[in-house]
Amino acid sequence: MKIFMDTANVEEIAKFVDWGVVYGVTTNPSLIAKSGRTQAEVIPEIAKLVAGPVSAEVISTECDGMVEEARKLVKIADNIVIKIPCIPEGLKAVKILSAEGIKTNVTLVFSMAQALLAARAGASYVSPFIGRLDDIGENGVQLVENIVKAFKLYGITTEVIAASIRNLEHVEKVMLTGCQIATIPTKVLEQMIVHPLTDKGLAQFMADYKNSLK
Ligand code: E4P
Repeated sequence: MKIFMDTANVEEIAKFVDWGVVYGVTTNPSLIAKSGRTQAEVIPEIAKLVAGPVSAEVISTECDGMVEEARKLVKIADNIVIKIPCIPEGLKAVKILSAEGIKTNVTLVFSMAQALLAARAGASYVSPFIGRLDDIGENGVQLVENIVKAFKLYGITTEVIAASIRNLEHVEKVMLTGCQIATIPTKVLEQMIVHPLTDKGLAQFMADYKNSLK
């Protein structure tokens, strides 16, 4: 499972790129707003930082507008992927963009039916949202698992990005689903490295080494 960062904060991305763990990045209009900068400012910087795909989301909700935005966004860098909402106009845009060789990430996916439609329209990636499904009492991880299983069953090559990840449990559970990618917010990525036995073990190693020098 590849790790993407789910943020538009360039400093945070740079920190984890230095760890060697970040392959790609996903953004959305809310994350861009949270960064306090514009999409035009942050996307080129993010695209330079990571080798893998960088999802930039369209603002338009109509096919023509989405396609127009997408054609401009992909000029920023070779690794730009166009994030498109899972609505009828979005599917039409995915069909056009995929015929032009432009990669798309269909977002706001909450069911297997939506995932299948996105894949058949030509999406390169689909993003089922785990946390938001859990919020309404459904099982987000189960949806990811089901989509991965169904795509495999039918030889669908669209990659599955586990999105809306809220905690470590989500990360560890999606690791077992076979999904190709998890897009992880900074706060959760920071938690992934932490284990009390690592800190305790390291303190003991250092203490034993110091004592051996006496
Ligand atoms: C996915 O690409 C979205 O940017 C993101 O995962 C949404 O997460 P949220 O439900 O925590 O806002």
